[in-house]
Formats: sequence, structure tokens, C-alpha cells
Amino acid sequence: MKRITKAVFPVAGMGSRFLPATKASPKEMMAVVDKPLIQYAVEEAVAAGITDMVFITGRNKRAIEDHFDKAYELEAELEMRGKDELLRIVREVIPAHINCIYIRQTEPLGLGHAVLCAQPVVQDEPFAVLLADDLIDGAVPVVKQMVEVFRRHQCSVLGVQNVPREQTNQYGIVSSTALETDLELVNGIVEKPNPEVAPTTLAVVGRYILTPRIFHHLARVQAGAGGEIQLTDGIAALMQEEKMLAHRFNGMRYDCGSKLGYLKASVAFGLRHPEVKDEFAAYLGSLK
Ligand code: UTP
Repeated sequence: MKRITKAVFPVAGMGSRFLPATKASPKEMMAVVDKPLIQYAVEEAVAAGITDMVFITGRNKRAIEDHFDKAYELEAELEMRGKDELLRIVREVIPAHINCIYIRQTEPLGLGHAVLCAQPVVQDEPFAVLLADDLIDGAVPVVKQMVEVFRRHQCSVLGVQNVPREQTNQYGIVSSTALETDLELVNGIVEKPNPEVAPTTLAVVGRYILTPRIFHHLARVQAGAGGEIQLTDGIAALMQEEKMLAHRFNGMRYDCGSKLGYLKASVAFGLRHPEVKDEFAAYLGSLK
């Protein structure tokens, strides 16, 4: 019986849709209210019992490493000023039993290539992949839901949700047959099909549990459009030889890689934040 103890966070993308904000820092460090996107993703992995966080970083990696590192000077300053609550927040960014491992992707050769960069650490264990720019708000954290599916089926699991047909060209789209409530057996996957030819509207969003065999396939995938090695192509090859499931997760997803999705997330999380929710709701109500 295998367990998921490692999560891979590819954070080496260009983040071009958010320039100039992403000129000098990764988009995963953008904050929704008061927490960077990457911290929401790490907290989701921690809630699923994962202990080893593997970050695939690019140029501008410093901010993420610093965020999860101990901030001696800041802590000393807060302690001296008696700011106990802020000190607690800073210390709780990452629990003490969690290991953070950083691997550099020297060129942004695509998401598939970023995941392949994790092989020396992940080795022959199944693992989770979280794309932090997909912020998912679930009563049960989505990776926890998927780890539970993995525990029962011991195979790769893709996090999926239905998207409007006109958006199929932004996602990997799966074809599948129903297995149980919210669980599908995947029998095909295509990257960004045009709406007219998309087999379904069931889109893979930024959560995956993959078996280590994916590395074998990613190492052989040919670069596609834009010279990028697509994770979808590796998954398509893996699916030919192993059972693969798609989990229709319960939760609200915000595509924080896009401006509109990021603004929606900021509103939703702002309306819940204990410090500002009432005033923020009143402010929004006062807008036309
Ligand atoms: P995106 O497709 O959102 O690309 O990557 P991007 O470069 O981050 O953003 P845009 O489209 O230019 O605005 C999906 C995920 O894969 C990571 C990104 O950091 C993001 O989490 N990624 C992508 C890498 O780590 N390396 C890559 O070479 C490409």
C-alpha cells in the first residue's frame, strides 16, 4: 500500500499574463488578501498529510525560498515590539515537521519539463502536483480528497471540473466513463482542443496525483508548440499502460493565473476574512 508524502509545486513559469507584477517575483507570490498563492497551496498539501514540499523554481526564485525560510531579523523585531499575533502568523507559515526542497528549472521548457525536474527527489514514489495559481476553496482540501481516492485505487488521479465549452482551448480535456459518484475512468486526454472538436468539457485543473512512471514518459515527450514539454502528453502516454482516474472535486476554483480569476478570488476571500469582511461587504454594497 503506497502513501503520498511528496508534493511538487512548479513555480518556474513566466507568468506573462501578470506582467509587470511578475517581472521580478513569481506569480505564486501574489497575495490573495494577506497570503501568497503558494502558501494556500502548501497548506492544502499539509492538510493532506504531505510532508515533503518540492518547489521547481526559475529565475526570481528567491522570494519563495525566503517565504518558507526562518526570518530571524523579522521575528526578533516583532518580538522586541511585543507584536505577538504577527509573530505567530510569521512562525506558522510552515509547520516544523515539513521539509522544503528547491530544484531549479534552468529554462521554462514547459510544465511537463518542470515536473520531470522533480524526479531526483521523488524517485519511485507516487506524488502530488499542485499548481498554486489554481486556488481551490474546498470544505475538504482538494488534494486531501484526491489522496483518499489514491488510497483506495492506488493509481494516478487527475483533478477535473466541467468548464464552459468555449474555454476548452485553455485546458487539458479528458474523455472518460463514470466509475462512481464524482469519479471517472479516464480513456483519453487532449491538450487545449478547440471547442468544436473537444471530446467533452471535463477539464484537468491544477491538481494531480501521479505514479512515478510519469517520469519515464516525460523524458520521452517531444516538445510541442512553443518548444514546451507538455504534462498532458506525458499523462496521455501513462494512461496507455496504467489505470487513470479523474476526480470531480468538490470546491470552488479560482484561476489566479488570469486577472479576472485573481480579482474574483480576492473578493471571495476578502468577504470571509475576519479582519475586513464587514467593512469590505459594506464597501462592495456601496458600489453600483
Ligand atoms: P502556465 O501555463 O500558467 O504558464 O503554467 P505561466 O508561464 O506560469 O503563466 P503565463 O501563461 O505566462 O501567464 C502552469 C504552471 O506551470 C508552471 C507555472 O509556474 C505554473 O504554475 N510552469 C510552467 C513551470 O514551472 N515551468 C514551465 O516551464 C512552465
